[in-house]
Amino acid sequence: MIPGAVHGTDELITNFASVNFLNLQRRADVMDCLVDATRQYGLGSGGTRVIQGITPAHVDMEQTVARYLNKEAAISFATGTVANIGFINAMAGTQQFMQGLAMVNRDVVFVYDRDAHWSLWKAAEGLKFGERLFSFQHNSVESLEEVLRKLRGKRVVVVFESVYSIDGTVAPMHELVDLCERYGALSYVDDANGFLVYGPPNRNFHVEYEGMLRATFIMVSMKKAVGLEGGLIAGPKDAIDSFELISGASSFTAGVLAPAAAGTAYITRLLAYEEPQIVDDYLAKVADFRSRLLDVELPITDTATCFTSVVVGDEAKCVELYNAYLEQGIRVPPYLYPAARRGGAVLRIILNAGHTEEQIEHFIEVSKNFRDQKML
Ligand SMILES: Cc1ncc(COP(=O)(O)O)c(C=O)c1O
Repeated sequence: MIPGAVHGTDELITNFASVNFLNLQRRADVMDCLVDATRQYGLGSGGTRVIQGITPAHVDMEQTVARYLNKEAAISFATGTVANIGFINAMAGTQQFMQGLAMVNRDVVFVYDRDAHWSLWKAAEGLKFGERLFSFQHNSVESLEEVLRKLRGKRVVVVFESVYSIDGTVAPMHELVDLCERYGALSYVDDANGFLVYGPPNRNFHVEYEGMLRATFIMVSMKKAVGLEGGLIAGPKDAIDSFELISGASSFTAGVLAPAAAGTAYITRLLAYEEPQIVDDYLAKVADFRSRLLDVELPITDTATCFTSVVVGDEAKCVELYNAYLEQGIRVPPYLYPAARRGGAVLRIILNAGHTEEQIEHFIEVSKNFRDQKML
């Protein structure tokens, strides 16, 4: 959505909710790429990957993303949520395909960061907690080690996120991957939020992102920096190839629309190699925004990622504040349980590369007034 988006009515509001934070669909060259691919391939998918195969745009996207993430191969899914569901289904399931061809992963157990995204918990819904599903405290290396020690001898997959979008925290990825390697566990990092934003040496969290590249699997969503729809998992080629069949998510539901695949390949090359300045400029704008929020003493989350939240705590108060901002023409969404922890409600503020100084100033002025009135 655009930074001055509508709210289901004709009334214009300023949107601080959209995770399409780089606003790249507004660029003429990106639009050309999307329109050209629509002309070439059409918009509808026409069916599932397993049934009808994929277009050259999909192949280009998967190879481009795999190369960027330093992995042998990548496979795409309709959304990041479908990718997560497909991954857990593939790694947890037991299926007999035909005589002599079976997948038996009945003994695999999963260890999740407790604050993992809804889609990951949803994917594991059929796994009994304490038998096949375990958790460790958010981003805690000690807590993960305690769990892994108890699971010695089992086939284990450790699942965590790179950047947590509710509180902006970043996982200690070297340390978590070190532990996985020491205990012979596979690692799966959900990098929905940091894809194409973090990693290069001149940006924050470079070291953590070097650690992420060591993980067995990396999942990304195309909804955030890319600003389109879809998800990918990158990893070892034999495993990635097998996911086409055993994830279920390539057999029973449609994949990424071809124009979105073409757009993702284009935007990945743009942000990673051709114009990384786009992201550098955006992060500088975020840093400036955060310091202005701190100047008016807004109680924002500590970690300086592009995911900034105002910590509210009480859920009812959080919804009240959301409505109060809306009355001032600003949309900042309340994140309540299960998106946030119980009693840990936040208002999440996403700055958009397209926000004007006037829109930012208005947001700060309104926030300052709420702060002065002790509403925050
Ligand atoms: C950490 C994380 N994983 C997965 C997803 C799901 O991605 P998608 O919206 O592409 O389904 C999100 C989306 O917000 C996310 O934040």
